[in-house]
Amino acid sequence: MPDGSPDRDKPLVILSFAASLDGSLALKQGHPAAISCDESSKAVHYIRSYCDAILVGIGTVLSDNPQLSVRLVPGDNPLPIIIDTDLRTPLETRLISDGRNPVIFCGSKASNAKKEQLETRGAEVLVAPENDRGLSFLFILKTLYDRGIRHLMVEGGPGILRSFLVEELWDKIAVTVAPALLGGYNLLNENSLRRVIKFNDVQWLTAGIDQICLINREQL
Ligand SMILES: NC(=O)c1ccc[n+]([C@@H]2O[C@H](COP(=O)([O-])OP(=O)(O)OC[C@H]3O[C@@H](n4cnc5c(N)ncnc54)[C@H](OP(=O)(O)O)[C@@H]3O)[C@@H](O)[C@H]2O)c1
Repeated sequence: MPDGSPDRDKPLVILSFAASLDGSLALKQGHPAAISCDESSKAVHYIRSYCDAILVGIGTVLSDNPQLSVRLVPGDNPLPIIIDTDLRTPLETRLISDGRNPVIFCGSKASNAKKEQLETRGAEVLVAPENDRGLSFLFILKTLYDRGIRHLMVEGGPGILRSFLVEELWDKIAVTVAPALLGGYNLLNENSLRRVIKFNDVQWLTAGIDQICLINREQL
């Protein structure tokens, strides 16, 4: 996978998510939904296997209890990164109990006691500055780059993906489009962008009954 321009100080960011035909990522916010078929799930694990780290928000950790592994393909599991302002990450969540030693970014007011509990269980907790959307992704990306992360997969949920899209902090998108209707929790709402964004540099891959759209960032 290309590293992008040689003068970058941030990892190459790949936004990855699965959506229904109506653009929903979940039936309801906070409830997991199985959207992808086996073949597209495997393709996503394949992309994961080329990444150094996978980033998710606390909403996804609480609702999906994800593994963020490459269990469907050969390869090493990427480092899990959790965005969690108030350190709500449960001590029993899989990313902790499976010994994945996630990096958790929190805000400056997060509880020191919870920080110690998470660190005792192998997590690394780092404080990030905040902006009007939440924790600063620019700071987080630069911190990850300084720690050797060159390819970062951002797997949601919608709250996190929206910030990366609106702040234009992405290089590629891999969206799995499933032939399903959910009428649920969408990536964007009518006030998210306020303009049409049409991509020209795209590839469509068939994976079982799903289609995976690979988008390369251009000057928007
Ligand atoms: N279909 C898919 O591909 C897919 C993938 C993942 C998740 N999901 C679904 O999506 C839902 C969870 O999504 P979600 O939107 O509720 O949660 P999320 O995107 O996982 O996390 C959002 C949370 O991250 C924290 N945050 C901190 N800084 C932020 C920033 N700069 N920008 C945005 N968020 C920031 C905020 O919580 P704090 O203030 O507490 O830090 C915010 O509420 C679940 O239903 C899950 O099943 C679907």
